[in-house]
This record gives sequence, structure tokens and C-alpha cells, in this order.
Amino acid sequence: MTKKEILLAIETSCDETAVAILSDGRDILANVIVSQIQIHRQFGGVVPEIASRQHLEQVNRLVDAALKEAEVSFDDLSAIAVTYGPGLVGALLVGVSTAKALAYSRELPLVGVNHIEGHIYANWLVHPEIEFPALCLIVSGGHTALVEVTAHGKYSLLGQTLDDAAGEAFDKVARAMGLGYPGGPLIDALAREGNPQKLPLPRSWLGNSYDFSFSGLKTAVLNYLNKSSMKGEEINKADLAAGFQASVLEVLIEKTVMAAKNKNIKTVLLAGGVAANSALREQLRKRCERENITLYYPPMEFCTDNAAMIACAGHYHYCKGERADWYLNAVPNLRLF
Ligand SMILES: Nc1ncnc2c1ncn2[C@@H]1O[C@H](COP(=O)(O)OP(=O)(O)OP(=O)(O)O)[C@@H](O)[C@H]1O
Ligand SMILES: [Mg+2]
Repeated sequence: MTKKEILLAIETSCDETAVAILSDGRDILANVIVSQIQIHRQFGGVVPEIASRQHLEQVNRLVDAALKEAEVSFDDLSAIAVTYGPGLVGALLVGVSTAKALAYSRELPLVGVNHIEGHIYANWLVHPEIEFPALCLIVSGGHTALVEVTAHGKYSLLGQTLDDAAGEAFDKVARAMGLGYPGGPLIDALAREGNPQKLPLPRSWLGNSYDFSFSGLKTAVLNYLNKSSMKGEEINKADLAAGFQASVLEVLIEKTVMAAKNKNIKTVLLAGGVAANSALREQLRKRCERENITLYYPPMEFCTDNAAMIACAGHYHYCKGERADWYLNAVPNLRLF
């Protein structure tokens, strides 16, 4: 019997310290995560220096916890995978240094993973049947893009945001509305109680391009909040949340379907933290059904940052024989496409 591949992955690109152990790229033996959200919440966003220090405090403990949960030892591991970008440089460095130290001391191969590729591969964690070509709508805290995936690891960019990322727009609007951080899940919940048609908010179509822009929408919300406050008018936060979310989602969904139809792609993938948005999942699912397109999205827990998705992406690199050397460094603006 051939020995199972067991891969340990570390993710520290932003404000979640995460370690996962996967067998053969899919079977999750351990998936541990410590979120720093409670710490950063008081500042209204992630403070990079605090994030790095927190990763440093947590990472070794989490590696031990993952090994224990998976009931494996270092001797059972086939390789160590790690996110080396994009993200906060200090935060990434903690994961990269830890992974290098472990791999070097245990004489294990090291595999570098792009964080955004990890988000895409969250889909493969539960859907090994995904067929190529696939169109991936990446909607995260720092990225918004439409990408054609022609084979494992082969990406071609169709369009991307010219300003704010979708998740960033959710977070900024939520902060302006006094809802808290992170804004995505709060707006998602509040929008369910509101009327999306109450307030006329703009949609940025940018002609027929596959690019996105959310800063005009964000400004429209800020202007509305300022005007209401100057006039002393009460605002209906649920209607505003619903209107803002509808405006973001309509553009995301229509551009994704337009790209799939124009390129004759029958498989669509959702990836990134905003893929956890309940209305986006539901509306895109219905729209794809009507167009005879198969839609995949990761389970909720794997949409936002986690190490299982890094292990899954790492598995495909490992299988192709790709290895990082001891010069692997944190690359804050690492590109995928
Ligand atoms: N239910 C939701 N609806 C909308 N947005 C959501 C929801 N849940 C999480 N988000 C958004 O997802 C983002 C966090 O996850 P994500 O992994 O995408 O961020 P990141 O790691 O900071 O960015 P990147 O992956 O681009 O580096 C935040 O912007 C958050 O508001
Ligand atoms: Mg992320």
C-alpha cells in the first residue's frame, strides 16, 4: 500500500493564525484557527504590528494542537505548505519563518502557496469533481477579480477592481454606518431585514468590461449618511444595508454571468470572504441555474481565511513536484495572475 500524503499548512497572511493537516489534499485531519478579530475590532480594522505579534504568540501552539488533533507526528508528514503572499509583510513573515524552521529541522519539503490561490482551492476541498475551464469570481477583503482557470494552477485574468475590493467596500460602509468590524457579516444580516429598493444607489458597470469599481458606491453611501446627519434625519439602517448589498451583488452577478456566457464556460466558482455572503450565494445560484451553469462555492467556514484551503492548494503544487527553497520570503504584493 502506498503511503498517504500528509501535508501540514500554515496561514498567517492577515488576522487569522491557522494551521491545518490534510491527507491526500482533501481529507481534513485537523483544522485549527485563532482569529484576532476581537483585538482589532476596537481599532475598526487590522493593525499590522499587532497582527504580527499575535501570530508569533499563537503559531507554535497551533502547530502542536493540529498535530494532536490529527493524531500524527512530524515523522508522518510529507511536506509543509505555507502562505507567502499576498498579505501583511510582518504577519506573513511569522508563517514563512515557522514553516521554514519546521521543514529544515525535520528535513521536509517546503511548498509556498499564494493566499488567493488558497481561496480558489477552498472549492476543491469539497468538490474534487470541478471541471475545467472554470470561471472564478474572487471576492475577498483585498481582491475582487474575474479569473478564467484553465487547468490546475493556470489562471488568466479577465477583469478586476479598479479601486476598492468588494470586502473592503462592505467593511468601510459598515464602519461608516457604525455597525462594527468586520462589516461583511453584519451587513449581510442587517440586509435581510431591509428593502433593497428604498434608496437609489449607483451601480458601476464600466461599459462591457469585466472590471469592477466600488468606490463610487461607497462615496454615495457616505454622502447619504452625511446629508441625513446634517438634516437631523433618522436613517433606516436595514434599508441602507440592503440597498448597498444589492448594488454590489447585482454588478458581481451580472458580470460573472456575462463572462461565463461570452467565454462559453459552464462552471463558475466563488472564492474569498465575500463568498460567505448569503444573498450572493443564493442569487448567483438561482442565476446560474437559469443559465445552465454549474456553480460551486466553499462551505461557509472555508470562505474566510483558513489553512485547510492553503493545504489543498499546496497539495496540487506538491503533486507537481514544486518545492520552495530556503530563500522563500514573504511577498506582500504577490501576484497570481
Ligand atoms: N457574509 C459576508 N458578506 C459579505 N462579506 C463578508 C461576509 N463574511 C465575510 N466577509 C468579508 O470577507 C472579508 C474577509 O475575508 P478574506 O479572506 O476575503 O479577507 P482577507 O484575507 O483580508 O483578504 P485577501 O484574501 O484578499 O487577502 C472581509 O472584508 C469581510 O467583511
Ligand atoms: Mg483572505
